Amino acid sequence: MESREEIYYCQPVFRPPSEAYSLLIQLTEGCTFKCDFCMSNLRKKFLIRDVQLVKKDLDIARKQYGSNVRKIFFLDGNAMVTPTEKLLDITRYAYSLFPNLERCGVYAHSKDILKKSDEQLRMLFEAGLKIAYVGFESGSDRLLEMVHKQVNKSDHIKASKKLMEAGITLSATLINGLGGGNNPEISIEHALESADLVNKICPDDDRIWYIAFLTLMVPSGTEIFKKKIKGEFLEMNSIEILQELKNFINQIEFHNKSANCIFRSNHASNYLPIKGILDREKDEILSIINYGLTHKNILRPEFYRGL
Ligand SMILES: C[S@@+](CC[C@H](N)C(=O)[O-])C[C@H]1O[C@@H](n2cnc3c(N)ncnc32)[C@H](O)[C@@H]1O
Ligand code: SF4
Repeated sequence: MESREEIYYCQPVFRPPSEAYSLLIQLTEGCTFKCDFCMSNLRKKFLIRDVQLVKKDLDIARKQYGSNVRKIFFLDGNAMVTPTEKLLDITRYAYSLFPNLERCGVYAHSKDILKKSDEQLRMLFEAGLKIAYVGFESGSDRLLEMVHKQVNKSDHIKASKKLMEAGITLSATLINGLGGGNNPEISIEHALESADLVNKICPDDDRIWYIAFLTLMVPSGTEIFKKKIKGEFLEMNSIEILQELKNFINQIEFHNKSANCIFRSNHASNYLPIKGILDREKDEILSIINYGLTHKNILRPEFYRGL
C-alpha cells in the first residue's frame, strides 16, 4: 500500500455552497453525463475510485482533523452512481472513524437515484447518507432535451419522491436563463414547467427540503460556450433573468401549507440574493424581485458573478 499522507483530489473539484465546511472526499472522478452547460467532466475521465484508496483518504483525514468532523461530501459530479454496496461500505467506514459525524452528502443525477431500489436508498439513509444535491435545471422537457440533460420532468418527480420516501433530504437546483435570450417563449415554459415540477414534488409533511436557482454562467469549453461563440446562443440580461424568476415564483402553489421548502437564489451566479420559505413567503420573495426589477443599480455586476 502506498505511504502518501495527503488526501487525494482530482482537480478542479466542485461542491455545493452549503458543503463549504465539510470534509471533501473524492469517491468518483468526473461525471457519467455531459450536460451542455457544465464543466464538471471537461478535463476528467469518469471513474469510481478503489474503496481501499477512499478509505485511506478517510484515515488521513482522521489523523489531520481528529474525530470532530461533522459533515462529509463525497465528490465528484454524480457520486450517487457508485454501486450501493461500495457507497454503504464507505459511508459506514466514515461513521466508524468520526463518531460526531452528522451527515454524508453527494451530488446525484435523477437517473442515478432511479437506478437504486427503495430498499437500497433506505439502507444508504440509515448508513448516514442524509442529503443528495440533484440538478433539476428545468421542468421543461424541451429545455432539458436542448441542454442534453438526459432526463425529463417525470424522472425528476419520481426520483425526488423516491429520495424523500427513503428519508434522504432533497436539495435541488434549477438554472435561471438556461434557455437563452433569443427565445422568450422557452423562458416562459421554463418558469411554468419548473414551478409545476416543484409543486408536484412537495411532500405531505413538514420536513425540510431545498430548492435553489442558480443563474446560467457560460464557462469556456462547454457546449453552450461553443454555441455562444457561433452566435447560436444569446445570454439573457439581468432583467430578463429576474422576470423569469418572477414567473416561476408566481406559479408556486403547494397543496401542503405546512411545507418547509427553503428557497434560495443567493449563489455567486445570481444577480440578486433572495432567501425565503416556499410557498409561505411567496409575497415577500416577489417583492424583493420587484425591487430588483425597478432598481437595476442594486444588482450584482457582471464581473462579480461566478460559479
Ligand atoms: C456539479 S453539478 C452536479 C449535479 C448533478 N450531477 C446532477 O446533474 O443532478 C451542480 C449543479 O450546478 C449547476 N451548474 C452547473 N453548471 C452551471 C452553469 N454553467 N451555470 C449555472 N449553474 C450551473 C447545475 O444546477 C448543476 O446541477
Ligand atoms: S450537471 Fe451534473 S450530470 Fe450534468 S455534467 Fe454536470 S455534474 Fe454531470
